[in-house]
Amino acid sequence: MQKEEFNSELGEWYSRRLIEVGSSKKRIGQEQIITMINTLPECPKRILEIGCGTGWRLNELSEIYQCEGVGIDPSSHAIEAAKKTSTRISKLQFEVATADLLPFSENSFDLVFFGFSLFLCDRKDLFKIASEADRVLSDNGYLMILDFNTFKPLKRKFYNSKLFSYKMDYSKLFCWNPVYTLMSFTSLSHHSNRLCSDIDERIGLHLIKKELYQTWK
Ligand SMILES: C[S@@+](CC[C@H](N)C(=O)[O-])C[C@H]1O[C@@H](n2cnc3c(N)ncnc32)[C@H](O)[C@@H]1O
Repeated sequence: MQKEEFNSELGEWYSRRLIEVGSSKKRIGQEQIITMINTLPECPKRILEIGCGTGWRLNELSEIYQCEGVGIDPSSHAIEAAKKTSTRISKLQFEVATADLLPFSENSFDLVFFGFSLFLCDRKDLFKIASEADRVLSDNGYLMILDFNTFKPLKRKFYNSKLFSYKMDYSKLFCWNPVYTLMSFTSLSHHSNRLCSDIDERIGLHLIKKELYQTWK
């Protein structure tokens, strides 16, 4: 399974890259994430980042919104780096785990954020991943998904010939269900804050609200 590969040599390679990304200007979508969170009626109190890598996004969000945060990632290298580099360790928790099996109880978070990780997840896990996010997200909470956002599903080689990245519209994992409503969407590019001209490389940031009963008329 692909998820196991992320806790090996690949996880080590990836976490080294992520440390550079977090401290460089190539912080894809972070500005747009903050702008989107600022539109919420209330600041988040407890954020879960799924696929947090070295935790730089979560660290920053926890600082800005003065909230608690939990980050999970299959890579023990990334999680170790997150614990070492976090400046808000009393408010943050980092755990080795995968998106399809979240070690948290029901309704634990008011914001669940997929931090550019769904494109790397095993396809057979997608239903479990949606179900786990739904389980830990409280009613009236929000999901944010930062990921590739292509019109058609695309599979590309990743890292070595055994692994793949998968591009699609990940809001579909939730928005078929009237419990989830798309509140906001921004299209991004890997390389700049401008719109992406190559439709197969398009990145999307979705803000989705969970309302268990209010949407039923
Ligand atoms: C592109 S990095 C993003 C890291 C960080 N969220 C960011 O935006 O910089 C993708 C992360 O997803 C993690 N990942 C891969 N498979 C996963 C899975 N099944 N569940 C959760 N995270 C996974 C990888 O280990 C990696 O740290």
